[in-house]
Formats: sequence, C-alpha cells, structure tokens
Amino acid sequence: MNFPRKNGIGSGLARLVPALPGVALFAFTVLQWAVPPAHGQDGLNGGQLAATYCLACHQVDRKIVGPSFVEIAGIHRDNPDGIVEWAINPGKKRPDAIQMPSMAFLGEENLRKIADYILKEAEGKTEVQAEDGSSAAIPSLVAAPRPKVQRIFMPDSGPAAIAVAMPGSLSYCWDAGNCQLRYVWKGDFIDPWPVWKGNGNGLATIMGDILFKPDVTASPRIHSEASPVFLGYRLIQGLPEFRYTLGDLEITELVKPLPADQGFTQIFSVRGADKPVLFSLQGRDGLQVEASTGTIDGDVLTVSPLNARSVSIHTILEN
Ligand code: HEC
Repeated sequence: MNFPRKNGIGSGLARLVPALPGVALFAFTVLQWAVPPAHGQDGLNGGQLAATYCLACHQVDRKIVGPSFVEIAGIHRDNPDGIVEWAINPGKKRPDAIQMPSMAFLGEENLRKIADYILKEAEGKTEVQAEDGSSAAIPSLVAAPRPKVQRIFMPDSGPAAIAVAMPGSLSYCWDAGNCQLRYVWKGDFIDPWPVWKGNGNGLATIMGDILFKPDVTASPRIHSEASPVFLGYRLIQGLPEFRYTLGDLEITELVKPLPADQGFTQIFSVRGADKPVLFSLQGRDGLQVEASTGTIDGDVLTVSPLNARSVSIHTILEN
C-alpha cells in the first residue's frame, strides 16, 4: 500500500515525501455523527475494573499489600457501599499496611460494580495463610502476563497515567490527563513497588528501554484549542481503546504493536470535525512514520474530516 510517509534521517532532519496520488482529499463538511455519550470506564465490568485498579494490592484469598477479598467481605458483606466509601476515602486501619491510595477518580458507579464483584468472588472462600504469617508475594508486574492494563503513577506523566503491556515486548504509558501517548518502551513491564512503598507518592520503575518519547507538550496530539476530557476506555482483545473529547471532536485511540515489535500503530477515529484534523507527529525525528490517509508536512499530518473517522499512524522504531 502507498502510504504518505515521513522518513527521518539520522540528523533529525526529516525528509518529506508528499502525499501520493490516490489519497483523496475531501474538502466538504461532514454531518455531525450521532455518537452515544460515554461515561467513565464504559464497557468494563466489575472484574475488569478490579483487575486494573485493585488486584495489584488485593487478591481473592490471600493478603498481599492489602487485605484479601475474603477479609474485605467479612467486614462489608452486608454493605457493599462500605467498600465504595472506603475506596473513595481510604482510612488507616492496619498498622503494618501502607496507606491505600484513593480510588475516587473511578466514580461511585464503577466502584459499586467492583464492590459487587469483590463480594461475589469472596463467596464461600476462606483465606489462605502464608506459612510464616507474612504476606504473600505481590503478583509480578515486571513480567506481567500480556496484555496488561495498569493504572499507576508513572514517571514523566500526569497522575492519571495508564501503563499498558502489549503482546510482545513493547509497553507504553498513556496519560489520561492530557489524553496522549507519553512514551513507549521495550523489555519487561513495570516495577510497582516504589508506588506501593511510597504510599502513593512514588513512581513505578520502567523495566526496559524507552524507544519513543515526544517532548512534554501541553498540547494534545490532535491540534485543538479545547482541553481534552477523558471518557474512559473499553478493551479490544485486552488492549484499551481510549475515548476522549476535544471540544466538539469525539476521539478514540487504540495503540497496537507492529509485527515483530518493529514499532507501533496508533489507530484514531475522530468524529464531529467540520474542518481538516491536524495530528502532531512531533518527537519522531529519525523514525519512519507512515499514515493510512492524509498528507504529511513537517511534523503535521493533515486529514480531511471524513477520512479522520479512521486514521492509522505507524511509527517504526529503530532497533
Ligand atoms: C496501592 C495498593 C492498593 C490498591 C491499588 C488498592 N488497595 Fe485497597 N487497600 C490497600 C491497603 C494497604 C489496605 C489496608 C489499609 C489499612 O488497613 O490501613 C487496603 C484496604 C482496603 C479495604 C478494606 C477496608 C476495611 O474496611 O478494612 C477495601 C474495601 C479496599 N482496600 C478496597 C479496594 C478497592 C475496591 C480497590 C480498587 C478500586 C483497592 N482497594 C485498591 C491497598 C490498595
């Protein structure tokens, strides 16, 4: 397939190949597309939410960083709202435990789903005691089963960071605060201990080499005057498709690895545009970039409103 591409040449000077014939440019305005409103972490059930936000510290039948679901159910069986209230505003109860970070950002509706899941999972189970009475080992996020989505504090990202281990050896950090891909690394996933030990003040350690990291910019990937509003994500084959708005634009972004971990693809869908959509390709000097549609000029990919409904941007990483 002929893709418009941007070839970086060592020095950081990008050589540009203009849009190829056959890439149609639409100049007309597209009708507003009806998109159902999304709220919170839509599409995720209680089990998926718990896996992302609770299981790093809680297990069903054994104590790890925090108490087991069995112990939690023993306290809150008849009152799931007690779990919701604690998760919004965690207390300090157990003397040997770290302070649990607040999960208020998940919202009551999602926390209620998690609370129901915790109580259901614990039903009929008893707690397994570690032989020496100490807590069992934390499940590894360093060599996590992939794909894996983990909400955790990450270096060089806002507090709403989401770390994702993709199938293969690439992982990435997506910042749900400003709604953009922050960086991609190759190797193992993350070591969460600095976060757990730091009572939520520490940052996870990246267990690999960062291969892609655009400069920190306040502006999102898609040019807009509006501030991004994160709406949540749904899982597609275990990988998150993030949803957010930028003013009138409704955007989804899914990041996937390229074959043999050569790089990654960002699949965007942008709806509600009435003028061309500009994607920043900044931070890719020296890397080969291809787009499924539109024209590349400098660090900017320009796509017509109609074609913006499906845009794939491949970034090939140097090995
Ligand atoms: C960073 C680790 C961590 C994460 C992530 C975490 N917890 Fe906790 N949780 C703890 C610790 C530690 C305690 C014990 C705190 C104490 O007793 O002082 C705890 C205690 C609890 C309790 C016991 C409350 C009680 O009445 O004794 C509940 C309920 C709970 N967590 C729910 C959740 C839910 C729901 C999530 C996910 C949305 C979650 N936790 C995520 C560490 C964590």
